[in-house]
Amino acid sequence: MLKKIAVLTSGGDAPGMNAAIRAVTRMGIHLDCEVYGVRDGYSGLMENKIAPLGLRDVGGVIHVGGTMLGSARSKEFMTVEGRQHALENLSSHGIEGLVVIGGNGSQTGAYELNEMGFPTIGVASTIDNDLIGSDITIGVDTALNIALEAIDRLKVTASSHRRAFLVEVMGRDCGYLALMAGIAGGAEAIIVPEIPQEPAILVERLHESYQRGKTNGIVVVAEGAKPNIETLIRFCQDHDTGFEMRATTLGHIQRGGAPGAFDRNLATRLGGNAAERLIHGERGCVVGLIKSSLATTPYAEVVGRTKGIDPDLFRLAEVMAL
Ligand code: F6P
Repeated sequence: MLKKIAVLTSGGDAPGMNAAIRAVTRMGIHLDCEVYGVRDGYSGLMENKIAPLGLRDVGGVIHVGGTMLGSARSKEFMTVEGRQHALENLSSHGIEGLVVIGGNGSQTGAYELNEMGFPTIGVASTIDNDLIGSDITIGVDTALNIALEAIDRLKVTASSHRRAFLVEVMGRDCGYLALMAGIAGGAEAIIVPEIPQEPAILVERLHESYQRGKTNGIVVVAEGAKPNIETLIRFCQDHDTGFEMRATTLGHIQRGGAPGAFDRNLATRLGGNAAERLIHGERGCVVGLIKSSLATTPYAEVVGRTKGIDPDLFRLAEVMAL
């Protein structure tokens, strides 16, 4: 059994990260382990920003978005020498294992440390839902609901003016957020990086919707889509869709919200389970939710790969837009 573990958050923050930090800390202390928090992700690990976390330190955070530990990128950590330095800092506190809460880049860092002989375990957390090892990652549900609220609002004003809105949602190179926000928001079209679409087809779809009597059109565009929202809006404005065209980019608004019940519970389950596994000697894997159950996936199957989207859902979205 490990007696001292640390926890850090890395990469883009995601609503629910605080609940995960709280769960790691309280489970760790429950199992007679000392728990340390690393400030500012891997950058803080390089700078030895490592301090004990007590039960009360993680009080009053479960309902707060962002990460109380902070998150920052570190170029130095990308080098072997940098990671060696990070391990020296961890050892200087007597820390024997590390829980890394984050997405793809963060889990790659955890994998590297684990390969260097230091026990690490990951907690699947990113609003992009592109991480292999969890059907849904911490933050996705909240980000989706924030995008949806914005889409619902845009729909109202769009209807008043018989307009169509292109709405850009986050997701890096993954179309999951766009796809699910599009289905739930009743979008006319969804543009994702995984399924390239000609702008002319989009114009045709919007024009047909207009002719079928629709008073508004919502097109959800993933930030990684090619063509991107700027190209698409220019093309739509230069061609006849019937609708007056507008574009809105939601951006970081999707990351900043208070976590909903789903993310708080998911983060608590994943964080608690990761701490328990690490303390009992498991390492080298990401803890996630697969087919509604807690599961681990070895780093080798996670790093350097991304999850795809379900083409059946994309086809369903097209039918629902009729
Ligand atoms: O990975 C989460 C995410 O929000 C992506 O959807 C987005 O592409 C990226 O982070 C934005 O990064 P930053 O916060 O550094 O601008």
